[in-house]
Amino acid sequence: MTVETVGQLDDGRDVQVVTIGRAPGIELQVLDLGATVHRLDVTGGDGVRRNVVLGHPTPQEHLDSTFYIGGTIGRYANRIADGRFELDGVGHEVGTNDRGHSLHGGPDGFDRRTWSVERHDDTSVELALTSPDGDQGFPGEVRATVTFTVVVDRVDVVMTATTSAPTVVNMTSHVYFNLAGEGAGTADEHLLRVAAERYTPVDDAGIPEGDHAVVEGTPFDLREPTVVGEAVRSAHPQVVAASGIDHNYVLDGSGSRVVAQLDCPTTRTRLELTSDQPGLQVYTGNFLDGQRRSTSGVLLRQGDGIALEPQTFPDSPNHPEWPSAELRPGQTYTSHLSWTVSATA
Ligand code: GLA
Repeated sequence: MTVETVGQLDDGRDVQVVTIGRAPGIELQVLDLGATVHRLDVTGGDGVRRNVVLGHPTPQEHLDSTFYIGGTIGRYANRIADGRFELDGVGHEVGTNDRGHSLHGGPDGFDRRTWSVERHDDTSVELALTSPDGDQGFPGEVRATVTFTVVVDRVDVVMTATTSAPTVVNMTSHVYFNLAGEGAGTADEHLLRVAAERYTPVDDAGIPEGDHAVVEGTPFDLREPTVVGEAVRSAHPQVVAASGIDHNYVLDGSGSRVVAQLDCPTTRTRLELTSDQPGLQVYTGNFLDGQRRSTSGVLLRQGDGIALEPQTFPDSPNHPEWPSAELRPGQTYTSHLSWTVSATA
Protein backbone atom coordinates (compact mmCIF):
# COMPACT_ATOMS: atom_id res chain seq x y z
CA MET A 1 0.00 0.00 0.00
CA THR A 2 1.28 3.48 -0.83
CA VAL A 3 -0.03 7.03 -0.60
CA GLU A 4 1.62 9.52 -2.92
CA THR A 5 1.01 13.02 -4.21
CA VAL A 6 0.45 12.74 -7.97
CA GLY A 7 0.01 16.36 -8.89
CA GLN A 8 -1.62 19.66 -8.24
CA LEU A 9 -4.76 21.19 -9.68
CA ASP A 10 -4.70 24.68 -11.22
CA ASP A 11 -6.59 25.90 -8.13
CA GLY A 12 -3.67 24.75 -5.92
CA ARG A 13 -5.19 21.59 -4.48
CA ASP A 14 -2.77 18.68 -4.12
CA VAL A 15 -4.04 15.34 -5.38
CA GLN A 16 -3.09 12.08 -3.74
CA VAL A 17 -3.24 8.55 -5.03
CA VAL A 18 -3.67 5.51 -2.79
CA THR A 19 -2.56 2.12 -4.15
CA ILE A 20 -4.00 -1.09 -2.67
CA GLY A 21 -3.91 -4.80 -3.55
CA ARG A 22 -1.06 -6.48 -5.39
CA ALA A 23 -0.03 -8.66 -8.33
CA PRO A 24 -0.84 -11.27 -9.44
CA GLY A 25 -4.29 -10.22 -8.16
CA ILE A 26 -5.81 -6.78 -8.56
CA GLU A 27 -3.86 -3.62 -7.89
CA LEU A 28 -6.14 -0.61 -7.55
CA GLN A 29 -5.28 3.09 -7.54
CA VAL A 30 -7.76 5.60 -6.13
CA LEU A 31 -7.39 9.40 -6.27
CA ASP A 32 -8.67 11.56 -3.43
CA LEU A 33 -9.95 13.87 -6.19
CA GLY A 34 -13.48 12.59 -6.74
CA ALA A 35 -12.68 9.31 -4.94
CA THR A 36 -11.74 8.33 -8.48
CA VAL A 37 -10.67 4.88 -9.64
CA HIS A 38 -7.49 5.82 -11.50
CA ARG A 39 -6.04 2.42 -12.43
CA LEU A 40 -7.23 -1.18 -12.07
CA ASP A 41 -4.38 -3.49 -13.00
CA VAL A 42 -5.31 -7.14 -13.45
CA THR A 43 -3.82 -10.31 -14.85
CA GLY A 44 -5.80 -11.11 -17.99
CA GLY A 45 -6.91 -14.57 -19.03
CA ASP A 46 -3.90 -14.54 -21.38
CA GLY A 47 -1.54 -14.09 -18.42
CA VAL A 48 -0.67 -10.50 -19.33
CA ARG A 49 -1.04 -7.72 -16.78
CA ARG A 50 -2.79 -4.56 -17.92
CA ASN A 51 -4.77 -1.59 -16.66
CA VAL A 52 -8.41 -2.21 -17.61
CA VAL A 53 -9.99 1.18 -16.78
CA LEU A 54 -9.83 4.52 -18.54
CA GLY A 55 -8.38 7.53 -16.78
CA HIS A 56 -6.60 10.81 -17.44
CA PRO A 57 -2.82 11.34 -17.20
CA THR A 58 -3.11 14.36 -14.87
CA PRO A 59 -5.65 15.30 -12.19
CA GLN A 60 -6.43 18.65 -13.85
CA GLU A 61 -7.64 16.80 -16.94
CA HIS A 62 -10.40 15.27 -14.77
CA LEU A 63 -11.68 18.75 -13.97
CA ASP A 64 -11.32 19.93 -17.57
CA SER A 65 -13.25 16.99 -19.05
CA THR A 66 -16.94 16.11 -18.81
CA PHE A 67 -16.37 12.35 -18.99
CA TYR A 68 -16.70 11.63 -15.23
CA ILE A 69 -13.97 9.02 -15.73
CA GLY A 70 -13.65 6.71 -12.74
CA GLY A 71 -15.34 9.18 -10.39
CA THR A 72 -17.59 8.56 -7.41
CA ILE A 73 -20.75 10.34 -8.47
CA GLY A 74 -23.16 12.21 -6.18
CA ARG A 75 -25.32 13.54 -4.75
CA TYR A 76 -27.55 12.41 -7.55
CA ALA A 77 -26.02 10.27 -10.31
CA ASN A 78 -27.70 10.58 -13.70
CA ARG A 79 -30.28 13.22 -14.53
CA ILE A 80 -32.94 15.24 -12.73
CA ALA A 81 -35.23 16.82 -15.32
CA ASP A 82 -34.92 20.63 -15.46
CA GLY A 83 -33.00 20.39 -12.16
CA ARG A 84 -36.33 20.48 -10.30
CA PHE A 85 -38.07 18.16 -7.88
CA GLU A 86 -40.44 18.28 -4.93
CA LEU A 87 -39.79 16.69 -1.57
CA ASP A 88 -42.42 16.76 1.20
CA GLY A 89 -44.33 19.35 -0.83
CA VAL A 90 -41.35 21.72 -1.03
CA GLY A 91 -39.92 22.56 -4.46
CA HIS A 92 -36.15 22.35 -4.94
CA GLU A 93 -34.06 23.67 -7.78
CA VAL A 94 -30.60 22.18 -8.29
CA GLY A 95 -27.73 23.15 -10.59
CA THR A 96 -28.14 22.27 -14.27
CA ASN A 97 -25.18 21.27 -16.42
CA ASP A 98 -26.54 19.09 -19.24
CA ARG A 99 -28.97 20.52 -21.80
CA GLY A 100 -31.01 22.24 -19.09
CA HIS A 101 -30.98 19.24 -16.77
CA SER A 102 -28.98 18.32 -13.70
CA LEU A 103 -26.42 15.59 -14.40
CA HIS A 104 -24.30 13.69 -11.87
CA GLY A 105 -24.94 16.05 -8.97
CA GLY A 106 -24.82 19.35 -10.86
CA PRO A 107 -21.95 21.58 -12.05
CA ASP A 108 -19.75 20.80 -9.04
CA GLY A 109 -20.55 17.18 -8.22
CA PHE A 110 -18.82 14.86 -5.77
CA ASP A 111 -16.43 13.74 -8.53
CA ARG A 112 -14.80 17.21 -8.52
CA ARG A 113 -14.23 17.40 -4.75
CA THR A 114 -11.22 16.45 -2.71
CA TRP A 115 -12.35 13.58 -0.49
CA SER A 116 -10.54 12.93 2.76
CA VAL A 117 -8.71 9.64 3.08
CA GLU A 118 -10.09 8.36 6.39
CA ARG A 119 -8.36 5.01 6.59
CA HIS A 120 -6.21 2.76 4.48
CA ASP A 121 -4.28 -0.47 4.70
CA ASP A 122 -2.77 -2.94 2.22
CA THR A 123 -6.11 -3.95 0.74
CA SER A 124 -8.61 -1.23 1.61
CA VAL A 125 -9.16 2.53 1.50
CA GLU A 126 -12.05 4.58 2.87
CA LEU A 127 -12.73 8.14 1.68
CA ALA A 128 -15.27 10.62 3.02
CA LEU A 129 -16.85 13.86 1.87
CA THR A 130 -19.11 16.38 3.58
CA SER A 131 -21.52 18.08 1.20
CA PRO A 132 -22.95 21.19 2.88
CA ASP A 133 -26.65 22.00 3.20
CA GLY A 134 -27.66 23.67 -0.07
CA ASP A 135 -24.74 22.20 -2.05
CA GLN A 136 -25.69 22.55 -5.75
CA GLY A 137 -29.21 23.37 -4.44
CA PHE A 138 -29.77 20.05 -2.65
CA PRO A 139 -31.23 20.26 0.88
CA GLY A 140 -29.48 18.85 3.95
CA GLU A 141 -25.83 18.39 4.86
CA VAL A 142 -24.78 15.02 3.51
CA ARG A 143 -21.85 12.99 4.74
CA ALA A 144 -20.83 10.46 2.12
CA THR A 145 -18.26 7.69 2.28
CA VAL A 146 -16.87 5.22 -0.22
CA THR A 147 -14.73 2.23 0.67
CA PHE A 148 -12.77 0.17 -1.85
CA THR A 149 -11.51 -3.25 -0.74
CA VAL A 150 -9.43 -5.57 -2.89
CA VAL A 151 -9.94 -9.28 -2.19
CA VAL A 152 -7.45 -10.96 -4.56
CA ASP A 153 -9.39 -10.80 -7.89
CA ARG A 154 -12.36 -8.83 -6.64
CA VAL A 155 -12.96 -5.21 -5.65
CA ASP A 156 -15.80 -4.48 -3.24
CA VAL A 157 -17.14 -0.95 -3.29
CA VAL A 158 -19.44 0.32 -0.55
CA MET A 159 -20.98 3.78 -0.75
CA THR A 160 -22.88 5.31 2.17
CA ALA A 161 -24.56 8.62 2.96
CA THR A 162 -26.37 10.23 5.87
CA THR A 163 -28.16 13.57 5.93
CA SER A 164 -29.15 16.34 8.35
CA ALA A 165 -32.45 17.03 6.51
CA PRO A 166 -34.64 15.18 3.98
CA THR A 167 -32.89 15.02 0.60
CA VAL A 168 -32.29 12.72 -2.37
CA VAL A 169 -29.17 10.58 -2.83
CA ASN A 170 -28.12 8.35 -5.71
CA MET A 171 -24.43 7.54 -5.82
CA THR A 172 -22.51 5.46 -8.32
CA SER A 173 -19.05 4.63 -9.55
CA HIS A 174 -18.42 5.92 -13.08
CA VAL A 175 -15.60 3.56 -14.08
CA TYR A 176 -15.15 2.86 -17.81
CA PHE A 177 -13.83 -0.64 -18.50
CA ASN A 178 -11.80 -1.85 -21.43
CA LEU A 179 -10.60 -5.39 -20.74
CA ALA A 180 -8.24 -5.27 -23.71
CA GLY A 181 -6.45 -2.54 -21.77
CA GLU A 182 -6.60 1.23 -21.46
CA GLY A 183 -5.33 2.69 -24.72
CA ALA A 184 -6.06 -0.47 -26.74
CA GLY A 185 -8.77 1.13 -28.90
CA THR A 186 -12.51 0.58 -28.70
CA ALA A 187 -14.28 -2.00 -26.58
CA ASP A 188 -16.53 -2.87 -29.54
CA GLU A 189 -15.49 -6.54 -29.53
CA HIS A 190 -16.44 -7.04 -25.89
CA LEU A 191 -19.47 -9.16 -25.10
CA LEU A 192 -21.87 -7.62 -22.62
CA ARG A 193 -24.58 -9.39 -20.67
CA VAL A 194 -27.04 -7.44 -18.52
CA ALA A 195 -29.67 -9.25 -16.46
CA ALA A 196 -32.64 -7.03 -17.30
CA GLU A 197 -35.90 -7.62 -19.14
CA ARG A 198 -36.71 -3.92 -19.27
CA TYR A 199 -34.93 -0.64 -19.90
CA THR A 200 -35.91 3.01 -19.72
CA PRO A 201 -36.38 4.81 -23.05
CA VAL A 202 -35.26 8.45 -22.89
CA ASP A 203 -35.73 11.65 -24.88
CA ASP A 204 -32.91 13.33 -26.82
CA ALA A 205 -31.51 14.77 -23.56
CA GLY A 206 -31.45 11.48 -21.66
CA ILE A 207 -34.63 12.15 -19.62
CA PRO A 208 -36.96 9.15 -19.15
CA GLU A 209 -39.89 9.36 -21.54
CA GLY A 210 -42.34 7.65 -19.22
CA ASP A 211 -42.58 3.99 -18.50
CA HIS A 212 -39.98 1.26 -18.93
CA ALA A 213 -40.03 -0.84 -22.09
CA VAL A 214 -39.21 -4.49 -22.74
CA VAL A 215 -35.79 -5.22 -24.25
CA GLU A 216 -37.04 -8.21 -26.19
CA GLY A 217 -36.75 -7.71 -29.95
CA THR A 218 -34.56 -4.60 -29.58
CA PRO A 219 -30.78 -3.99 -29.56
CA PHE A 220 -31.17 -3.34 -25.83
CA ASP A 221 -31.67 -7.05 -25.24
CA LEU A 222 -28.41 -8.01 -23.52
CA ARG A 223 -29.78 -11.00 -21.62
CA GLU A 224 -27.36 -13.19 -23.55
CA PRO A 225 -23.75 -12.04 -24.12
CA THR A 226 -23.94 -9.54 -27.01
CA VAL A 227 -21.21 -7.95 -29.10
CA VAL A 228 -21.21 -4.30 -28.03
CA GLY A 229 -20.12 -2.97 -31.43
CA GLU A 230 -23.15 -4.58 -33.06
CA ALA A 231 -25.66 -3.24 -30.51
CA VAL A 232 -24.39 0.34 -30.84
CA ARG A 233 -24.54 0.19 -34.65
CA SER A 234 -28.24 -0.68 -34.70
CA ALA A 235 -30.51 1.95 -36.27
CA HIS A 236 -33.02 1.70 -33.40
CA PRO A 237 -34.23 5.29 -32.70
CA GLN A 238 -33.15 5.06 -29.04
CA VAL A 239 -29.63 4.06 -30.08
CA VAL A 240 -29.48 6.78 -32.74
CA ALA A 241 -30.64 9.47 -30.28
CA ALA A 242 -28.01 8.53 -27.69
CA SER A 243 -25.22 7.78 -30.22
CA GLY A 244 -25.06 4.31 -28.70
CA ILE A 245 -26.35 2.87 -25.46
CA ASP A 246 -26.73 5.38 -22.64
CA HIS A 247 -29.72 3.88 -20.86
CA ASN A 248 -30.99 2.67 -17.55
CA TYR A 249 -31.61 -1.06 -17.29
CA VAL A 250 -34.30 -2.16 -14.83
CA LEU A 251 -32.34 -4.98 -13.24
CA ASP A 252 -34.07 -8.31 -12.67
CA GLY A 253 -34.33 -9.47 -9.06
CA SER A 254 -33.33 -7.64 -5.90
CA GLY A 255 -30.64 -7.71 -3.25
CA SER A 256 -26.99 -8.32 -4.05
CA ARG A 257 -26.83 -10.28 -7.32
CA VAL A 258 -24.73 -10.56 -10.47
CA VAL A 259 -26.21 -7.89 -12.75
CA ALA A 260 -23.76 -7.75 -15.64
CA GLN A 261 -20.84 -9.55 -17.22
CA LEU A 262 -18.32 -8.12 -19.65
CA ASP A 263 -16.05 -10.41 -21.68
CA CYS A 264 -13.03 -9.57 -23.78
CA PRO A 265 -12.44 -12.49 -26.19
CA THR A 266 -8.99 -11.28 -27.31
CA THR A 267 -7.47 -11.22 -23.81
CA ARG A 268 -9.83 -13.91 -22.42
CA THR A 269 -10.69 -11.67 -19.52
CA ARG A 270 -14.08 -11.46 -17.78
CA LEU A 271 -15.49 -8.85 -15.45
CA GLU A 272 -18.54 -9.69 -13.37
CA LEU A 273 -20.51 -6.89 -11.74
CA THR A 274 -22.51 -7.49 -8.58
CA SER A 275 -24.84 -4.83 -7.21
CA ASP A 276 -27.77 -4.36 -4.83
CA GLN A 277 -29.24 -1.44 -6.80
CA PRO A 278 -32.47 -1.48 -8.86
CA GLY A 279 -30.94 0.05 -12.00
CA LEU A 280 -27.81 -0.03 -14.12
CA GLN A 281 -26.88 2.82 -16.46
CA VAL A 282 -25.08 1.20 -19.37
CA TYR A 283 -23.04 3.82 -21.19
CA THR A 284 -20.93 2.84 -24.18
CA GLY A 285 -18.64 5.87 -24.12
CA ASN A 286 -20.67 7.67 -26.77
CA PHE A 287 -19.42 11.16 -25.92
CA LEU A 288 -15.70 10.38 -25.71
CA ASP A 289 -14.84 12.85 -28.42
CA GLY A 290 -11.12 12.59 -29.12
CA GLN A 291 -10.36 15.84 -27.28
CA ARG A 292 -8.95 14.44 -24.05
CA ARG A 293 -6.12 12.07 -23.16
CA SER A 294 -6.33 8.74 -21.44
CA THR A 295 -3.86 7.60 -18.77
CA SER A 296 -1.21 6.40 -21.23
CA GLY A 297 -1.47 9.61 -23.27
CA VAL A 298 -3.61 8.39 -26.20
CA LEU A 299 -6.74 10.33 -27.06
CA LEU A 300 -10.05 8.97 -25.79
CA ARG A 301 -12.40 8.24 -28.66
CA GLN A 302 -15.99 7.06 -28.91
CA GLY A 303 -16.47 3.53 -27.58
CA ASP A 304 -13.04 3.26 -25.94
CA GLY A 305 -14.64 2.08 -22.70
CA ILE A 306 -17.93 0.90 -21.25
CA ALA A 307 -19.33 2.36 -18.04
CA LEU A 308 -21.58 0.12 -15.97
CA GLU A 309 -23.11 2.36 -13.32
CA PRO A 310 -25.36 0.70 -10.71
CA GLN A 311 -27.84 3.19 -9.27
CA THR A 312 -31.49 3.98 -8.84
CA PHE A 313 -33.43 5.05 -11.92
CA PRO A 314 -32.76 8.40 -13.60
CA ASP A 315 -35.00 11.30 -12.56
CA SER A 316 -36.50 9.20 -9.74
CA PRO A 317 -37.30 12.30 -7.63
CA ASN A 318 -39.92 13.10 -10.31
CA HIS A 319 -41.24 9.52 -10.53
CA PRO A 320 -42.92 8.57 -7.23
CA GLU A 321 -43.89 5.21 -8.80
CA TRP A 322 -40.20 4.19 -9.00
CA PRO A 323 -37.84 3.12 -6.17
CA SER A 324 -37.30 6.16 -3.99
CA ALA A 325 -34.04 8.10 -3.78
CA GLU A 326 -35.18 9.94 -0.65
CA LEU A 327 -32.90 9.96 2.37
CA ARG A 328 -34.03 11.22 5.76
CA PRO A 329 -32.16 12.04 8.98
CA GLY A 330 -31.46 8.84 10.91
CA GLN A 331 -31.38 6.71 7.75
CA THR A 332 -28.23 5.52 6.01
CA TYR A 333 -28.09 5.24 2.24
CA THR A 334 -25.96 2.31 1.08
CA SER A 335 -24.95 0.92 -2.27
CA HIS A 336 -22.75 -2.18 -2.57
CA LEU A 337 -21.11 -3.26 -5.79
CA SER A 338 -18.23 -5.52 -6.70
CA TRP A 339 -16.09 -6.17 -9.75
CA THR A 340 -14.70 -9.69 -10.09
CA VAL A 341 -12.06 -10.43 -12.70
CA SER A 342 -11.50 -13.94 -14.04
CA ALA A 343 -10.04 -15.82 -17.00
CA THR A 344 -12.21 -17.36 -19.72
CA ALA A 345 -11.46 -20.28 -22.00
C1 GLA B 1 -23.44 9.15 -17.85
C2 GLA B 1 -24.52 9.73 -18.67
C3 GLA B 1 -24.02 10.03 -20.02
C4 GLA B 1 -22.80 10.90 -19.97
C5 GLA B 1 -21.75 10.26 -19.10
C6 GLA B 1 -20.55 11.12 -18.92
O1 GLA B 1 -23.20 7.86 -18.16
O2 GLA B 1 -25.67 8.92 -18.73
O3 GLA B 1 -25.02 10.64 -20.79
O4 GLA B 1 -23.12 12.16 -19.45
O5 GLA B 1 -22.29 9.96 -17.86
O6 GLA B 1 -20.08 11.69 -20.08
